[in-house]
Amino acid sequence: MGKITAAITGIQGYVPDYILTNKELETIVDTNDEWITARTGVKERRILKGEGKGSSVLGAEAVTGLLKKTNIPAEDIDLIICATATPDMIFPSTACIIANKIGAINAFAYDLMAACSGFLYALSTASKFIETGAYKKVVVVGADKMSSIVDYQDRSTCILFGDGAGAVMLEPSEEGLGIQDAILKSDGSGSEFLHMKAGGSAKPASHETINAREHYVFQDGQPVFKAAVTSMADVSEEIMKKNNLCADDIAWLVPHQANQRIIDATARRMGVGNEKVMLNIEKYGNTTNGTIPLCLWEWEGQLKKGDNLILAAFGGGFTWGSIYLKWAYDSNK
Ligand SMILES: CC(C)(COP(=O)(O)OP(=O)(O)OC[C@H]1O[C@@H](n2cnc3c(N)ncnc32)[C@H](O)[C@@H]1OP(=O)(O)O)[C@@H](O)C(=O)NCCC(=O)NCCS
Repeated sequence: MGKITAAITGIQGYVPDYILTNKELETIVDTNDEWITARTGVKERRILKGEGKGSSVLGAEAVTGLLKKTNIPAEDIDLIICATATPDMIFPSTACIIANKIGAINAFAYDLMAACSGFLYALSTASKFIETGAYKKVVVVGADKMSSIVDYQDRSTCILFGDGAGAVMLEPSEEGLGIQDAILKSDGSGSEFLHMKAGGSAKPASHETINAREHYVFQDGQPVFKAAVTSMADVSEEIMKKNNLCADDIAWLVPHQANQRIIDATARRMGVGNEKVMLNIEKYGNTTNGTIPLCLWEWEGQLKKGDNLILAAFGGGFTWGSIYLKWAYDSNK
C-alpha cells in the first residue's frame, strides 16, 4: 500500500453579521479610512455581538456547516483541534466546547495556541494523526473572537482585527494529495513586541490590571511588521526550494491576512502574481486563526484537484510557517 497523505476534503467558514467599517471606527478613535486602507488594506471587519458568546460560537457554526456540506455525521469525527488565541475560557478547551455543541461524542478534542500561526500549526499536527493511520476524520477549526481582546481606545491595533472562523475536514488520501510538506518556526524573543500583559498565570487579573488596560492585545507595530515581512517571505521561499517548486508551479498563495503590505512582500519574493494571491483582508481584517480557512472557503469554487497551494502565516510568539499542499477535489460550488 502507498503512503497515506492527509487531504482537506471539505472547507467551511463563518463570519458574524455585524460589520464594523472604517467609517464607524472614525467615530471611536482618532483615525480615518484613508490611513487604514493605505497602511493595512482593511476596510471593514465582522464583530460577534451578544452576551456570553465566545469563539466557540464561531467555531461551532463553521464545523456545523462543514459537516452538513461534507455529509459527515458528527459521531464520525475522531479528533477536533481548535486553533484559537481567544478561548471561551482558560479551561476547558474551546475544542471541547465545540465538540459538545455539535454532538461529536466520539471525538477527543483539544486547543492549540500559536497566535496567528495556530491554524497552520494545527493543520500540520492533525496531518500526522492521519498519515500514521491512527485516525480517519480530523477536524481543524480556527476560531477567534478578537473583539474580546482588542482595545477600542488603541487606534494602532483596533483597526486591524475582526472575528471569524473556518474549519477543514482532513481525511486520508491514497492518491498522494493533501499536505506535502510543512515548515514551522518560532522565536520567543519576539514576545516582547506582541502579547497580552495580564490574565495569565504570571499576572492574574486584578483591579490594577484592569485599570491599566492590560487584558488587551499589546503590539509594537513596527518590529512586528519587519519580522512578519522577512519571516513569511523567507519561509515561503524555503518551502518552494525544498520541494523544487517554481512560481509557475503554484496555483495559489494562501497568506495569513494581517496587513496587505506583508502579503504583497511575500508574493513578490515568491515571484507569484497578485492574481494567484487569496486576499480578503479588506472585508474581514485579521481574524487570527480564521484568516487562512476563510480564504480557502471563499476561493473553494476556483480550486481544482491537484492545484499546488502554499499556505503562509506569521504571528505572536513569534511563530511562523508555511505549508505546501495539493488540493484534493474539484468543487461544485
Ligand atoms: C500596526 C501597523 C498597521 C502600523 O502601521 P505603521 O506604518 O507601522 O505605523 P506606525 O506605527 O509607524 O505609525 C505611523 C503614524 O501613524 C499613526 N497611527 C497609528 N495608527 C493610526 C491609525 N489607526 N490612524 C491614523 N494614524 C495612525 C501613528 O501614531 C504614527 O504617527 P506619528 O508618526 O505622528 O507618531 C503596522 O505596524 C503593522 O501592520 N504591524 C504588523 C501587524 C502584524 O502583522 N501583526 C502580526 C500579528 S498577526
